[in-house]
Amino acid sequence: MPRWIAPVVLTFVVIALIPAALITRARYTRSSTPRINLVPDMDYQLKYLPQTANALFADGRAMRPAPEGTVARGRLAEDERFHRGRSGEDWVGEIPVPVTGAVLRRGRERYGIFCSVCHGLSGYGDGMVHARALELAEKGLANWVPPTSLHDDLVRDRPDGHLFNTITYGIRNMPAYGPQIPPEDRWAIVAYLRALQRSQKATLDDVPAEKRSALR
Ligand code: HEC
Repeated sequence: MPRWIAPVVLTFVVIALIPAALITRARYTRSSTPRINLVPDMDYQLKYLPQTANALFADGRAMRPAPEGTVARGRLAEDERFHRGRSGEDWVGEIPVPVTGAVLRRGRERYGIFCSVCHGLSGYGDGMVHARALELAEKGLANWVPPTSLHDDLVRDRPDGHLFNTITYGIRNMPAYGPQIPPEDRWAIVAYLRALQRSQKATLDDVPAEKRSALR
């Protein structure tokens, strides 16, 4: 073996380690200049991201608050009955949209997503969150107000507008779902809730005449 081989191999080995060392250093140090970005795609753009600063405005915020007294297009919640469940001082007593099969199915789906976790699929206040909270409460780890059974006379006697309002703003210990559920879906849930209530207090008179014999 010629004498030069060992130093040359050693040199290459050392050189080969340099990229690995640089990458390691880049990962574990902080720098105020942008990283080298071989494939920039559209990672850096001249635009303002949410919650960033913008020196153009006196208050320095890039996100602009809505000017006072303005309403975004399409956001004018003019119909009091539909958007607030009220007419004047009173709760509306009837769902202000036509209750169709499609609305009820939509309501059942939305109820399953948003309400059943606490109130249970059949509305007795026995959802999974409730079960878990009881477990924690037994160990003294949670302070739990159980979800109201939706078959209580209290809830049965609430006007439709009140139920709508409960979903929108929450009530006592129940949180608000207005920010997550648009108004038409809130009404769909109210419609489904009424169907659910009726299902638990149904009598033979609720069954169409031609189907009664099958039940008996
Ligand atoms: C995080 C759990 C939770 C979820 C999810 C939840 N609720 Fe409740 N709900 C409660 C609790 C707890 C109460 C009782 C609050 C109290 O008495 O302080 C309650 C009370 C109610 C009441 C009775 C209000 C009254 O008039 O006294 C209604 C009606 C109701 N919920 C409907 C709904 C509907 C509809 C949904 C789905 C959009 C829903 N809830 C989702 C926890 C929940």
